[in-house]
Amino acid sequence: MIETVGIVGAGQMGAGIANLFARHGFRVLLCDRDARQLERAVAGIRRDLARRPPKEGTADDVVGRIATSLTLDPFAAAGFVVEAVTEEEPLKREIFRQLDGIVPHGVVLATNTSSIPIASIAAATDRPDRVIGMHFMHPVPVMALVEVIRGAATSDDTFAVTAGLAARLGKEMAVSRDLPGFIVNRILIPMINEAVYALEDNVATAQDIDKAMRLGTNQPMGPLALADFIGIDTVLSIAKVLFERFADPKYCPCPRLARMVAAGELGRKSGKGFFTY
Ligand SMILES: NC(=O)c1ccc[n+]([C@@H]2O[C@H](COP(=O)([O-])OP(=O)(O)OC[C@H]3O[C@@H](n4cnc5c(N)ncnc54)[C@H](O)[C@@H]3O)[C@@H](O)[C@H]2O)c1
Repeated sequence: MIETVGIVGAGQMGAGIANLFARHGFRVLLCDRDARQLERAVAGIRRDLARRPPKEGTADDVVGRIATSLTLDPFAAAGFVVEAVTEEEPLKREIFRQLDGIVPHGVVLATNTSSIPIASIAAATDRPDRVIGMHFMHPVPVMALVEVIRGAATSDDTFAVTAGLAARLGKEMAVSRDLPGFIVNRILIPMINEAVYALEDNVATAQDIDKAMRLGTNQPMGPLALADFIGIDTVLSIAKVLFERFADPKYCPCPRLARMVAAGELGRKSGKGFFTY
C-alpha cells in the first residue's frame, strides 16, 4: 500500500496535487528549486483548507503530512512520484533522469505533463515500464477528472497502480493514448487559441468573447478567463507542442500568446492576462 508520495514542482499544480494527496491521508514530499514557491504552496494549501475543510481530521493534520525540500534526496522514501515542474521537455527529462537515480527501483514515476509524450520522458530513465502520465486538472482538489496516459513501454502493473491511486483519491479516470495533448488539451487548447485569434481579429471584446461562450455554449468559464486560470505561459507551451508534434498549421499558436508571455502577462498567477486580477 502506497503511503508516501513525492511531488516535484510546487507551482499551481504541484501545490494542488500535494493538497489532494495530503487530504487523503498520504505523506507528501514536496520539492521545488525555489524556496518561495514552497512557502507559497503551503500558504495556498492552508487558505484552501480554511475555505474547504478536510473531510477527515483538521487542517493542521493535512499540512502536517507535507514535508518540503529544495532537493530530490528525500524521494528515496517515496512509494509513488508525480512530477509537476514547468512544461519544458528538456527540464522534465532531466528531472526524470535524477529521479531514476534516487527513487527506489520499481516505484512508479508519473508526470503531470499537459502535452509532452510520455514515451519521450520515460526514455530518460532506465525504467520506462514504470513511467506513466497522470494528468490532473486545475484546481486539483476540486476537479473530478484525472487523465491517465500510457507510454509505449508502460506496463500493465504500472497502469494498475496508478488507477488504484486515482480511485483512492476519489478521481474519475479517462485513459488516453500517448499522443500530444492527450484528450483534454488536444481539444481545449485549439479552442482557447481560436478565442485569442478572434480577439486579434477584433471579432469582439475579451468580455464578449467569454460571455458568448459561457452563455452560448454553457461553459462555466469563457476560454480567455480559462487561459488566464491555466497560465498563459502554460497555454503557449502546450500550443507549441501540438503545433510542432503534429506539424499541422491548424495548431499554430496565436502570436499574441508569445507577446503576453514576453510582457509577463501570465494570467492570474501574475495578476494580469486577458483580464486583470
Ligand atoms: N496550469 C494548469 O492548469 C495545468 C493543468 C494540468 C497540468 N499542468 C502541467 O503541470 C505542470 C506544472 O504546471 P503549473 O501550472 O503548476 O506551473 P507553475 O509555473 O505554476 O509551476 C512550475 C513549478 O516548477 C518548479 N520548477 C521548475 N524547475 C524545477 C526544478 N528543476 N526542480 C524543482 N522544481 C522546479 C518552478 O519553480 C515552479 O514552482 C506542467 O507540466 C503543466 O503543463 C498544468
